[in-house]
Amino acid sequence: MRKQIAAANWKMNLTLQQGEKLLDDIIVLPHQLNEYQQAIFAVPFPYLIMAQHKIEGKKNVFIAAQNCYNKKSGAYTGETSVEMLLSIGVHHVVLGHSERREYFNESNQLLAEKVNICLENNVTPIFCCGEALSVREANAQNEFVAKQLQESLFHLSAEQIQKVVIAYEPIWAIGTGKTATSAQAQEIHQFIRSQFANKYGATIADNISILYGGSVKANNAKELFSQTDVDGGLVGGASLNAEEFNTIINSLK
Ligand code: 13P
Repeated sequence: MRKQIAAANWKMNLTLQQGEKLLDDIIVLPHQLNEYQQAIFAVPFPYLIMAQHKIEGKKNVFIAAQNCYNKKSGAYTGETSVEMLLSIGVHHVVLGHSERREYFNESNQLLAEKVNICLENNVTPIFCCGEALSVREANAQNEFVAKQLQESLFHLSAEQIQKVVIAYEPIWAIGTGKTATSAQAQEIHQFIRSQFANKYGATIADNISILYGGSVKANNAKELFSQTDVDGGLVGGASLNAEEFNTIINSLK
């Protein structure tokens, strides 16, 4: 059975002290996460070790990096390797966020390489995809997202693809307060799952967690997560508030 996941993406927000307090405030609350539910915190690089310590011993709670490099090691000033993440106990990485695609020119090809290096090292990529408003207005979102999946993921084996978490994040819903309706989310999530089913078969497609991201809040999480093919959320703004994010965690199916 696939996992239901509430993932926080702090992006480039909070000081160390604010981050520590936020994690304390969230983790102190009793979450009854069953074995099919997870909470993941994608925190800025300088806070990974702190965050990793905070969640030590917590079941089904994980820390993620927000990026990694596509090379093993070497003269790449300013970059962070998967091996470095592993050495501090981090086993999850957000890849291909639309902000990285847009501001740092991350291409589908580069992301395929990042996905590969993660999987070679048993690190779970949380792979983001999703279309801009102009694409949605042209009703071309399915083709757009299918291309992102094909070019970054479809070279993977059936065994590998099941280790990837997908986050569908329509760019027009990120940080805008404009959430996709639960029907819109279900429609494209179902389409995404059908793409995996076509390529890898229905059983494997059924095992892949597909998160929704884009203005997920405490007051809409339950409705979004209740959709058949929505397996939780990747949350920006609302993950910076303990009460909001706790409610989102507790909205998992
Ligand atoms: P918001 O929840 O702030 O819209 O951000 C979504 C996002 O980009 C998560 O990765």
